[in-house]
Amino acid sequence: MEIFIDTANVKEINKWLEYGIIDGVTTNPSIMFRDGIYDIEKGAKEIAHLIEPRPLSVEVTTNDLNEMLSQARQFAQWANNIVVKIPQITADGVPCYGVMKQLENDGLKVNSTVALSFGQVILAAKAGATYISIFAGRISDEGGNSPEVIRNSVDWLKRWNYKSKIIVASIRSVGDILNAALAGAHVITIPPEFVGKMADHKNTRESVKQFIKDAQKALDMMGNVKKT
Ligand code: E4P
Repeated sequence: MEIFIDTANVKEINKWLEYGIIDGVTTNPSIMFRDGIYDIEKGAKEIAHLIEPRPLSVEVTTNDLNEMLSQARQFAQWANNIVVKIPQITADGVPCYGVMKQLENDGLKVNSTVALSFGQVILAAKAGATYISIFAGRISDEGGNSPEVIRNSVDWLKRWNYKSKIIVASIRSVGDILNAALAGAHVITIPPEFVGKMADHKNTRESVKQFIKDAQKALDMMGNVKKT
């Protein structure tokens, strides 16, 4: 299973890269805006360079299918490791699977995003998407069972031998991360604060504190023994 980090914050990306636990980065226009990246090209180029050869997902910002195609092609020129995010449907409900198909046929990598149902996952896989992002948090927000959608999708892709990998996105808690991992997610994209929470445990801190205290006591004893 791979872990991506769901942020455009370069400081955070650097930190988790150094820890050696991240395999890629995902963004969307809201994440970029929240993290103070207003020039998408400049921000995307900087992150892509920082994490290469790991993938960076960058989302198109239009409702028009032709514009999606040209934006995606433009994004892909910025760096070799850019994956273009195309939504399942436009804001008006027009399916974007043709755009995904065309881009994948041209050799670009597509992250088919904002998937909220198993049905959408099937269509995105048929369109040839490299990644399909299931929005666990947004499914649960509406009372849906996100682990079930993830499990069904992963099983179905395997049964029919589709290449698409499921990215579980829209993480709202460490519990969401663990549920996604158990449901068989190929990738989980995690906001930095939850990677931190996942690492932390009060009793781990207490245990380490005790070990260091006892090691110090042992050193003191050694000093005393040498003196006598
Ligand atoms: C990442 O690919 C998604 O765009 C992101 O996880 C969405 O998160 P949200 O539902 O918390 O906005």
